[in-house]
Amino acid sequence: MSESVKILSQKLDFGNGKVAPNRLVKAPMEEMLGRFGGSAPTPALLKLYRHWAKAGWGMVITGNVAVDRTHLGFPWDISFPSPPHSDALISDFKAYAEASSGRDNSSIDEADRPLVVVQLVHAGRQSLRGSGRAPWKPALAPSAVPMRPSEGMGVVGKALDWLLWGTPRAMTLPEIQEMVNRFAAAAEACSRAGFDGVELHASHGYQLSAFLSPRTNLRTDAYGGDAQRRARILLEIVTEARKRVPRGFLIGVKLNSSDYIQGGLTEDDALLNVRWLAEHGGVDFVEISGGNYENPSFMTEGFDAEEEMRKLQGDTSVSAPQRGTEASQMQKDQGARSARSHAREAFFHNFAKKARDNLPASSSTRLIVTGGLKTRAGMAGAIENTHVDGVGIGRMAAVYPDLPRRVLDQNVVDDEDPRANGPKYVIPGSGLLGYIPIKFVGAGWGTVWHNGMMSYLVLDKKPDVHASTPRILLGIFAPSVLQLRIHAFIAAILVFLVAFLPGVARQKTV
Ligand SMILES: Cc1cc2nc3c(=O)[nH]c(=O)nc-3n(C[C@H](O)[C@H](O)[C@H](O)COP(=O)(O)O)c2cc1C
Repeated sequence: MSESVKILSQKLDFGNGKVAPNRLVKAPMEEMLGRFGGSAPTPALLKLYRHWAKAGWGMVITGNVAVDRTHLGFPWDISFPSPPHSDALISDFKAYAEASSGRDNSSIDEADRPLVVVQLVHAGRQSLRGSGRAPWKPALAPSAVPMRPSEGMGVVGKALDWLLWGTPRAMTLPEIQEMVNRFAAAAEACSRAGFDGVELHASHGYQLSAFLSPRTNLRTDAYGGDAQRRARILLEIVTEARKRVPRGFLIGVKLNSSDYIQGGLTEDDALLNVRWLAEHGGVDFVEISGGNYENPSFMTEGFDAEEEMRKLQGDTSVSAPQRGTEASQMQKDQGARSARSHAREAFFHNFAKKARDNLPASSSTRLIVTGGLKTRAGMAGAIENTHVDGVGIGRMAAVYPDLPRRVLDQNVVDDEDPRANGPKYVIPGSGLLGYIPIKFVGAGWGTVWHNGMMSYLVLDKKPDVHASTPRILLGIFAPSVLQLRIHAFIAAILVFLVAFLPGVARQKTV
């Protein structure tokens, strides 16, 4: 058996009675399969998760589920209404727990079922206008710091950001307490529904991440100031959630290693956040990621955390990425990647290593590193070299839901054998979109394209990386149409037309 398979197929014991059958974690991916305005899990969502349930993952983390229906990331997000939660709602979530864990499929062996963890989010300042609230109502945030993802486009960018997000309003203390209660009530509901745990989304610029960042948290009360005060809300949520769920229920946190923007969360603060969560005693795992809507480079090919850091420190020898060359950049990058060790395939490899070294050996908090992992050797290398406990896989899980079956296949001994890894693919149009000087656009299209891959699974079909752009766009909205969401259908037609105007080219995969 390959050494990599040995490493990845070890059980992951959380020490509280929960054991994942292996080290492969399906990372959270927002599915956009709810009803317009936010809803409980839908039949389309259950169909999608049944595919991951039978694919051999050690743990499946759901896409983010909003704890506040007035603050969705997108209008079609799965969400909780205001607490207290009714029995009818719990039974909707129970059906989701059964489908995503494979308990509603008797052909899946008990020992082979993944642990299923629901990611909980408040989108905060990144909630698009009209996502669950009237378009003129501002989003709630730690402080009134406007969103600036389109900064590269001057006045036009400023207008675009205002149109999409506007300036948020700083939360009052009672609103903060209400949000703590919403997270805790959602955790309790997930426990009652039969999930194995929850993960608090405190990365990528959403509400809890905005509290952690000195750029977006300018508060002068108990929830702002130094790193410890900025982390206070997160620790309060963990404490409150812990009171309401049994010890055997997992509580995890997704954290940024850095925001990769000027004035944002630094690596030093991020290391402190990991330590405080571990010392709290109520956190079973921390998933490491990085970036946000204002710098979503981690969602584009060729992301290099060290290079992003050097750019932040003003190293002028590091040039900005060339526009319009993403596909060729990806090929160069793949070459470079095979030249260096697979062990560095994980985007946040260095941070993960520091985070592990920073924790006492006796700490029971498990670390999971997510981002950039594509190969069996890379996944095993991340565990072996950074001593994290698990590896999170996002985009590859959308394109290749059965990835664990390939990666853990003992009969394929050579790690370089294509049968041990997922397929290589290039996202059509990504080169063209690279000309737009807003990183959010390219990263956003990559995200939407992967949602398109998930839509095949909803229809019980194999994801097709060669599909045309119109097919992808229609596929995303088809499940909503099936649920008679007519507004989604109209939106699909609009998006379809807009996609054609710039003539997004179809590219062959490599
Ligand atoms: C379609 C899509 C939706 C995503 N939604 C979420 C989300 O809901 N919560 C989250 O923490 N990360 C989300 N992510 C980010 C992934 O969890 C992961 O951090 C990122 O894709 C990098 O990992 P990868 O290189 O394995 O894809 C999303 C990514 C994609 C492609």
